[in-house]
Amino acid sequence: MDEREKQAEAARKLGIGELRRHVLLCVGETCCSGEAGMAAWESLKTQIKERGMTDCYRTKVGCLRVCIGGPVAVVYPEGVWYAGITADRVPQLVEEHLVEGRPIEEWTFARNPLPNDNPST
Ligand code: FES
Repeated sequence: MDEREKQAEAARKLGIGELRRHVLLCVGETCCSGEAGMAAWESLKTQIKERGMTDCYRTKVGCLRVCIGGPVAVVYPEGVWYAGITADRVPQLVEEHLVEGRPIEEWTFARNPLPNDNPST
């Protein structure tokens, strides 16, 4: 198996190709403390795993370039940008946005849905 085939296999195991949402969460340390960021990240991982949400990808990032009011998160494909996603807020974010498809307005500070121009979808 060459490198490209190994990558494709890794992607398949991660569910890439079947994903419906992608959450990127900043774990600081400018928008929030590293401790608060990692606590939010651990909560997000646990929530998604416990619910068996294999179609929701999560990525921990070092900065989303907003750098205030974190932990900052963005959820695609809706392109909803959230502030203050602390560990105690993660369960509500998962339930309302990721499960029920209802973004939480009061935590939203920006929106930028990405157009789907892929002719194969
Ligand atoms: S450090 Fe979190 S957005 Fe920059």
